This record gives sequence, structure tokens and C-alpha cells, in this order.
Amino acid sequence: MRLDRFLSNLPRFSRKDVRLVLIAGRVQVDGVPVKNPLHEVREFSQVRIDDEVLQLGKPARYFMLNKPQGCVSATVDPQHPTVLDLLDEPDKDGLHIAGRLDFNTSGLMLITNDGQWSRRLTQPTTKLAKVYYVETEDEIGAHYIEKFADGFYFAFEDLTTQPAALTILASHRARLSIVEGRYHQVKRMFGHFDNKVTRLHRESMGPLMLDTTLKPGQYRTLSADEIALI
Ligand code: URA
Repeated sequence: MRLDRFLSNLPRFSRKDVRLVLIAGRVQVDGVPVKNPLHEVREFSQVRIDDEVLQLGKPARYFMLNKPQGCVSATVDPQHPTVLDLLDEPDKDGLHIAGRLDFNTSGLMLITNDGQWSRRLTQPTTKLAKVYYVETEDEIGAHYIEKFADGFYFAFEDLTTQPAALTILASHRARLSIVEGRYHQVKRMFGHFDNKVTRLHRESMGPLMLDTTLKPGQYRTLSADEIALI
């Protein structure tokens, strides 16, 4: 919300008061004096007038988890363990997953309570590369590379997938970089060749790489530098 609107929503300030306190430089957001009425105040922002706190600002939280296989990318599931069950953290209700993975897919999973941040990470327009390590039942042919680059027609969504970069590592192993996150996208791409994906592991999302010291099921908080990358 705009700072002027945030202030005028408080019963103690008239519109005129808001203008005056802003011009006087009495309002601070996250410890920095702000005079711009359009400055954005978030649920995470601390807002003060002089020495008085108007909004404490709740802590923004960001976690990187190495999702194990056999675990659901959801906040609740009646049958199976969820990725949130793996977090030993208070107040998990406010957390959500930025970019789901299938039940048997492992690897990088980002969990946060910051909706703007997760939207930047997952919205198709940002075209952040998601990199997957893939193993398949049958051999991966050299002709796959061109097809991944050209795109696959997905009838259900009536769209052609964005160019994807396939690097063949061995007869049954590849690394794939895609910029979208369609339902079962990687499996459906290999499915075009009738080649079943037997292992799928997400290694990175944009500039954020899975910390390889994290064993399956382990997690850590993101550093300030990592958060700022998105
Ligand atoms: N593509 C898939 O098919 N499954 C995933 O979990 C992620 C991408």
C-alpha cells in the first residue's frame, strides 16, 4: 500500500496531517526517512513516526529445501508427508511454496511468506530458467535437442512450449533448462518420445542453486544476498 494511504488509514491522521508529517521527514520506513507519499509499505515494513512505531512489520522468511522423493508439494495432505512437514519452524501457516514439484521429483524447493518475491520467481513473464537433472528409461537421442529447442505442442493448454535447452550427459541422462512451469512439463516433453522419466531433480531456479550440502529433506534459510537475487 502507498505510504500516504497507510498513514491516512490511521484514525489519528487527516490527509493534511499526512502531507505535513511526510514533508517534515518525520516518517521512517525500515529505519530510513521517507518523504515520498507513493513509497510502498508492505506487511514486512517497519513504519515509524519520530520514535513511535506505527507498524512493527512481520519478518519475511525464505527457505531453501532439498525436497526428497515421496513428499507432496503442498501445505497439507491427508495421506502423505508434505514439504512443510519437513520445516521445523514456528508459524508455518503463512508460508507457501514457490514453484511446485511432483511427488517423486527431488531437489530445489523455495518456501517463503513473501508473495511478491515468489511471484517474481514463478511468473512466466520473468522467464527464469529452471534446471533439471533427468534420467530416462530409454536412450536419449541426439534428435531430441532440436525438438526441445523448437517446443512441444501441449494440446490441453493449446500452446507450444518455450525453447528449452537439453544437454545430453549420457545415454539415459540429461540436463534440461526450461523457462516455464507447466503441469508435469518435463515428463510430458520426454513423453513426446515415449521415453519415461525415471528420475527428476531440480538443481536451480534462476540464479538460485540448490545448496549441495543439503541432504534430501534438509533445509536452510536463504542469505540476504540470495533473497536479493530475485
Ligand atoms: N516437470 C515435471 O514433469 N515434474 C516436475 O516435478 C517438475 C517439472
